[in-house]
Amino acid sequence: MNKLEIINLAKKYGNKTALNNFTYTFENGLYGLIGPNGAGKSTLMNILVEGISKTNGDVLYNGEKIEKLGKEYRNIIGYVPQQQGIYNNFSAEDFLNYMANLKGLNKKDISSKIKEVLEFVDLYGVRKNKLDGFSGGMKQRILIAQALLNNPEILILDEPTAGLDPKERIRIRNLIARISMNKIVIISTHIVSDIEFIAGNIVFLYGGELIRKGSPKELLKELENQVFEKIISEEQVENYNEKFLVSGLMSASTGIKIRYIDNDKLTDDEYAVEPNLEDYYLYIEKIKM
Ligand SMILES: Nc1ncnc2c1ncn2[C@@H]1O[C@H](COP(=O)(O)OP(=O)(O)OP(=O)(O)O)[C@@H](O)[C@H]1O
Ligand SMILES: [Mg+2]
Repeated sequence: MNKLEIINLAKKYGNKTALNNFTYTFENGLYGLIGPNGAGKSTLMNILVEGISKTNGDVLYNGEKIEKLGKEYRNIIGYVPQQQGIYNNFSAEDFLNYMANLKGLNKKDISSKIKEVLEFVDLYGVRKNKLDGFSGGMKQRILIAQALLNNPEILILDEPTAGLDPKERIRIRNLIARISMNKIVIISTHIVSDIEFIAGNIVFLYGGELIRKGSPKELLKELENQVFEKIISEEQVENYNEKFLVSGLMSASTGIKIRYIDNDKLTDDEYAVEPNLEDYYLYIEKIKM
């Protein structure tokens, strides 16, 4: 069992507060960290991987402060940063070899571990190829492979699906879901549908504050009977956009199918639908603005 306890964590840049009073406990499982640009997601992750210092608060791994654990803590962390620096002149295999040495892996284990992570991310066949020929999705997968070299107990992925095509997003989503059985996996994203069905828990950050937390199911209760779909004409779209929070538009044979959030059922021809995490995200962002 792993337990990462975060108590009153804060980060200030000058007088700008990037993270404020963040208190939360992560245990084994997959956590989705969501929130708009500048919410503090990367700041939190950077503190957890000891990439930046904190201004206030504590982080405890299994009851011990991480500063005190030092190398012991760093050895159990895997991290895929948002800003991906990648050594383009390396082959996939050489890159992983380099990272394995940086991480101080046992020399005798390195080649078998590299093979294992390359197979896991489905890049074993291209291991001799240079990274600069890799697609965005392949690069992201090699970065995930790098983060897994030391069998981390805590894996932190900062927007791992940003900029990828739908097929690669699904592929990465499946990889991550497979990893999260017996470790803490924290993944930040703007594409909430990427974590909706794999994250056991959602942590919603806004302006450096934790504003919502819970399982997707628990959170979506807040929107029960408030998401509607209805067929309208093209001319009515603007009117709905002004009156309601519109979370979807789809062309239909008889007009436009609009999805929107409203407090009450108004007319007979609108019907309530199951809210999803994207509706929820838009809704929370709006009530916070
Ligand atoms: N090095 C820095 N110096 C000053 N301010 C910073 C620095 N890094 C982050 N910030 C500020 O801290 C706040 C939180 O930024 P952070 O990068 O954690 O947000 P984020 O949720 O990861 O956003 P995004 O979704 O855009 O990646 C922002 O207001 C940002 O401008
Ligand atoms: Mg970020």
